[in-house]
Amino acid sequence: MPRLLIPVESAPGETRVAASPESVKRFLSLGCEVLVEKGAGILAGFIDDSYIDVGAVLVPKGDLENWAKADVLLCVQSPPVEALSRLKEGALLIGLLAPYNNPDLVACLKSAKLSAMALELLPRISRAQSADALSSQANVAGYKSVLLASAALDRYFPMLMTAAGTVQPAKVVILGAGVAGLQAVATARRLGAVVYVSDIRPVVKEQVESLGARFISPPLMDEKPGESGGYAKQASDSFLAAQRQQLSDHLAEADVAICTALVPGKKAPRLISEDMLDRMRPGSVVVDLAVAQGGNCADTRTGETVVRNGVKLIGASDLPSTIPNHASSLYARNLLSLLEPFFKKDEFCLNTEDELVAGCLISNKGVISHDDFINSGGQN
Ligand code: NAI
Repeated sequence: MPRLLIPVESAPGETRVAASPESVKRFLSLGCEVLVEKGAGILAGFIDDSYIDVGAVLVPKGDLENWAKADVLLCVQSPPVEALSRLKEGALLIGLLAPYNNPDLVACLKSAKLSAMALELLPRISRAQSADALSSQANVAGYKSVLLASAALDRYFPMLMTAAGTVQPAKVVILGAGVAGLQAVATARRLGAVVYVSDIRPVVKEQVESLGARFISPPLMDEKPGESGGYAKQASDSFLAAQRQQLSDHLAEADVAICTALVPGKKAPRLISEDMLDRMRPGSVVVDLAVAQGGNCADTRTGETVVRNGVKLIGASDLPSTIPNHASSLYARNLLSLLEPFFKKDEFCLNTEDELVAGCLISNKGVISHDDFINSGGQN
């Protein structure tokens, strides 16, 4: 009978958990034994009893004897290597492992002969959608970014007709219309804002407009950065300069800018310069979700709010952890969906040739793959 372990997350500020009582119940019905560390779900609103009620075994936090017995360890972020090295040979680690920032992790996977699936590398094909943890968490981040902006803004979002007069709706500019950006569009629209969106993938126009926002078409230049495999390609400096010029007037009239523009493996494109910030209205707000990748906006700092000439710059890096209950529930379903096909008659047998598995299996019993990606620090 395969034994799953759900540890207490150890990364600073992490409030999510890799399994919900709902996903644990399903894993049990697939023939697993599920060990949940005491307190693993508490910050996400899942008390220990909720796991016991569905049939999990509660074990002490960090008891390495249990780690040594586990076949599969489900985590959100990678546990410390000291604990990982106690897993048994061939055990499988699954999570958002950030392998490219973590040479110690890779060395540990090798020396302890562990298998590991880094969900950041899950191929983004249709079949993978229900397992796509980057998407489920980006969705949460996009939603929360708008709530943060609306709470920090000195104005209403919706148009209001009151006895004291009419209030015009807020103007929100969203940079990047991937998963987080589209959720930000939908959330800002629900709150009644007028929303403008810039993206360099022309295919996004229709999606943006179907959510009731207006699309700012990419600058008309010979260069068309376009996309590859659904992701944006990196734009040149001159293209970005033209884009900044185009966005400058929009931002001068904006109440809020939400920055979500990313190019996988590259530094985030700089779309708001200091000159552009100088033109923004005091009291307006910029939320930079790309801050940890270098930032779309000048002067934003990870995890901090900087007030610059009255403009609030929010460097938002860990938003899924601020909505841990739903973020964890969705993440837990992602993991279940990814692993479920490999349980057969109370056995767990990972098919390493399956496209989804092969796409994100960075270590197979200590044999490292995707090392070009890992060694390049995540640069494609
Ligand atoms: P991302 O986080 O890599 O990038 C966010 C957005 O920034 C993208 O829309 C990108 O075009 C945009 N961007 C890049 N440079 C920009 C610039 N200079 N100015 C303005 N915007 C810029 O993207 P995310 O959210 O990971 O989604 C990427 C793609 O993957 C999308 O096409 C999405 O539909 C697709 N996808 C497919 C899935 C599946 O089939 N399983 C699941 C999730 C996403």
